[in-house]
Amino acid sequence: MGRRRKNALSASNGGRKEIRAYGIRALLSRHPRIRQLKRRHHPCLHGNKLWSASWLLMDFFKKQGMPQGSRVMELGCGWGLASVYCAKKFDALVTCVDTDADVFPYLRLHAEVNGVKIGTLQKDMNHLSKAVLQGFDILIGADICFWDSMTHSLKKLINRALRGGVKSIVIADPGREPFLDVADHYVQRGLGHLLDWGVKQPKSIPGHILQIGALEA
Ligand SMILES: C[S@@+](CC[C@H](N)C(=O)[O-])C[C@H]1O[C@@H](n2cnc3c(N)ncnc32)[C@H](O)[C@@H]1O
Repeated sequence: MGRRRKNALSASNGGRKEIRAYGIRALLSRHPRIRQLKRRHHPCLHGNKLWSASWLLMDFFKKQGMPQGSRVMELGCGWGLASVYCAKKFDALVTCVDTDADVFPYLRLHAEVNGVKIGTLQKDMNHLSKAVLQGFDILIGADICFWDSMTHSLKKLINRALRGGVKSIVIADPGREPFLDVADHYVQRGLGHLLDWGVKQPKSIPGHILQIGALEA
């Protein structure tokens, strides 16, 4: 029972300070070190917490795997838990990108408590050039297409990445309309697959994964 309680997340987080799942630690808003950061760093584009779609990404890679040592870029990383997972489980060389520099202290804290190293790049995804993107094997993202204005940016970015030779793009989402529009665009052109994806732990999370390209071994 002790173990079940440790790994489970109650509806309200039940006053918990952290979640342990998929072999990583995710600190919650009540954790003293997060509270400390919240006094000084105020992410302004929804990078103020860990979003549930990150667990979908972890579950996807747990099941599909990832070549060891892959060069991974996480777009709109926020607290970057999916990146932490890739670094920990697959020795991925991860660069986390976000336009909001105030997310990086939270990301660095999570890298520290999980014992991994993660690079950061403050950049608007509109300004990620093909030259930068071509240095990566895999692009990942969780809940990064939540406004209509983002669909155009994300499509342009994916197109630049594919032209730059990125082999695989994996984006998780709870099923927001702008994301589904982007997914539809690639599915219709035969370039991607939209997968229903859900997890039961650390809580019940339904959603989708857009997968473009293959995860080469
Ligand atoms: C809903 S949060 C998701 C954060 C994280 N991926 C997660 O699952 O917890 C969206 C993130 O995208 C970032 N973001 C929004 N617009 C962006 C842009 N144009 N370029 C890069 N990052 C952006 C925000 O700062 C925020 O951290």
